[in-house]
Amino acid sequence: MKKILVTGGLGYIGSHTCVDLLEKNYEIIIVDNLCNSELDTLNSIYSITKKKPKFFNCDITNYEELFHLFKTNNIDCIIHFAALKSVSDSVQNPKKYFFNNVEGIKILLRCCKKFKVNKFIFSSSCTVYGFPKVLPVNESMPFGEASSPYGETKIRSEEILLKFCKENKSFKNISLRYFNPIGAHNSNLIGESHKGTPSNLVPIITKSCFNKNIKLKVFGNDYNTKDGTAIRDYIHIEDLSKAHIKAYEYIKDSINNYEFFNVGTGIGYSVIEVINTFEEISGKKLNYIFAKRRKGDIEKIYADIKKVNKKMKWKAKFDLKKMLESAWSWELKRNSNKKTLK
Ligand code: NAD
Ligand code: WQD
Repeated sequence: MKKILVTGGLGYIGSHTCVDLLEKNYEIIIVDNLCNSELDTLNSIYSITKKKPKFFNCDITNYEELFHLFKTNNIDCIIHFAALKSVSDSVQNPKKYFFNNVEGIKILLRCCKKFKVNKFIFSSSCTVYGFPKVLPVNESMPFGEASSPYGETKIRSEEILLKFCKENKSFKNISLRYFNPIGAHNSNLIGESHKGTPSNLVPIITKSCFNKNIKLKVFGNDYNTKDGTAIRDYIHIEDLSKAHIKAYEYIKDSINNYEFFNVGTGIGYSVIEVINTFEEISGKKLNYIFAKRRKGDIEKIYADIKKVNKKMKWKAKFDLKKMLESAWSWELKRNSNKKTLK
């Protein structure tokens, strides 16, 4: 049976997608170098699905190892998650990001060409729109100015994929432009875990309830929004992982060989709305302070989701309350031996 190669399959989004693929009885192979994940996630995937996928501890920038993997496995499609994703780290170490994320995709494509693997699903990001002038953002809008080297690697990767599709007509790619994924799997066995301190809003909120050294700062309350705080389109991880199943089903019969879709809920929430909803569902009072705007932050962004709804027949199910309940439940489970702060 042909297999789906999932790069970065032990990471946050990859692990949830692997669970869904296994539950749909697809055969998968996971490649991950564990630079931002743990081998134990493989056991969690097994606990949920009762299936043990093949795993290779391999770096996607290592052509020889990838070559061997492609040679010895019959691969139908690649779902490519493996990338470095910290915006602040990318500002400190831009070369590391370009090498890992851009060279990584080039090496994968070299293997695709060599072994005639002609389906590819790529983890892109709403960051490719830069600072949007019109909302909601739709796919016909051009790339914006990247707000970080990380963002630039996503634009560059999409450009490489487009060129590759133009030169190789039998090769098909779908780029999924994720908005802001949050929450965890309903089993609470997999979720977002960070090597180091998180910088994203929702993990900071949930972690600040256990760790007094994590202080929640709201970056900017002078934006041109309903309450002055920035607006994002948060999407639950289970909705997002399901979009990959839809993409895999869609790519088999798609006519265009290069497609890209927004993957969000289409609804924007402000930082204050997220905080208020979290306080409501958890019964916790968050001690936040207002701070200066964070450099490079966008005032507001949310997705136009008509294209993905219509063409891929995918729609998010979780609302903000349910997403935050899921994120809180995951945090509680991880700290089940600790007391929450007052
Ligand atoms: P993650 O860090 O949890 O997962 C990425 C995985 O890839 C990790 O397990 C890491 O060990 C692995 N990896 C990284 N470089 C590798 C390499 N060279 N070789 C092999 N494995 C490697 O991140 P995530 O949140 O699951 O993100 C997955 C993808 O989605 C990334 O491409 C990311 O840029 C993109 N994305 C994420 C978000 C988000 O907010 N989480 C939003 C938009 C797009
Ligand atoms: C959300 C909102 C912050 C932390 C990042 C990447 C983007 C994409 C998703 C991968 C913003 C505010 C945050 C805090 C705050 N990733 N905030 N206090 O910045 O929208 O997107 O992750 O592709 O590329 O840039 O997500 O969760 O960091 O921030 O007030 O301590 O919360 O200013 O308005 P962001 P985020």
